[in-house]
Amino acid sequence: MRKMIELYRGKTKTLYSTDEPDVLVLEFRDDISALDGKRVDQLNRKGFINNKLNYFIMSKLQKAGVQTQIKELYSHDSTLVKNLKMVPLEFVLRNRAAGSLVKRLGIKEGTPLSPPVFDLFFKNDGKHDPMVNSSYCKTFGWVSEHDLSRMREITFQSNDILSTLFSERGLILVDFKLEFGIFQNEVILGDEFSPDSARLWDQKTLNKMDKDLYRQNQVGLIEAYEEVANRLGVNLN
Ligand code: TMP
Repeated sequence: MRKMIELYRGKTKTLYSTDEPDVLVLEFRDDISALDGKRVDQLNRKGFINNKLNYFIMSKLQKAGVQTQIKELYSHDSTLVKNLKMVPLEFVLRNRAAGSLVKRLGIKEGTPLSPPVFDLFFKNDGKHDPMVNSSYCKTFGWVSEHDLSRMREITFQSNDILSTLFSERGLILVDFKLEFGIFQNEVILGDEFSPDSARLWDQKTLNKMDKDLYRQNQVGLIEAYEEVANRLGVNLN
């Protein structure tokens, strides 16, 4: 398969067309961003690590029955994916209080949330990804009611699969964000799952092993991502 032209450049990933219209190349760059893209830096090896981590986690979800966009690894920092029609929403699930939930409600960071809290955000950096709900989706036609409920269901299903996977490797899946698209009339999990889009804490020390290290100006992000990969058994050679 030949990588052709750049179709879309996001904050940390780039999509390229290929010689097959239904297949794209998803490239993970070394960029890292916060504050809706106002703060951007480069971290050597991050694209490579996240490409491998994303492929590993998406493969686990796929094997457990979640339909994902991934097809096969394409290079050290890119993967062949299905060409989805993306829905402009972020599906967030929280097993413990952290991040914007702590800010919004004043709950102590780390408080277990049972059942997990589900949040929906509209993807719009200019408006800081505002929180929305199913009524907005209907009025603005972002996604059908049927597909929205399927996406929500897959978000909870993914949480069950991944909470177990991480917990077996000594990690707490604090929260995460998923994005979905439509391919041949079916709901498919798209975008990525990596420590950029999830919070992962060490079970014993509660040390952060995700993008909060960057958001909070701490050192050791690449080492933490590598440790996540090592614990999962992802081959980084
Ligand atoms: P939040 O606490 O900032 O709402 O984030 C919840 C989870 O979703 C956290 O794991 C980070 C992830 N997330 C993204 O990956 N991208 C985003 O744009 C947002 C708002 C959250």
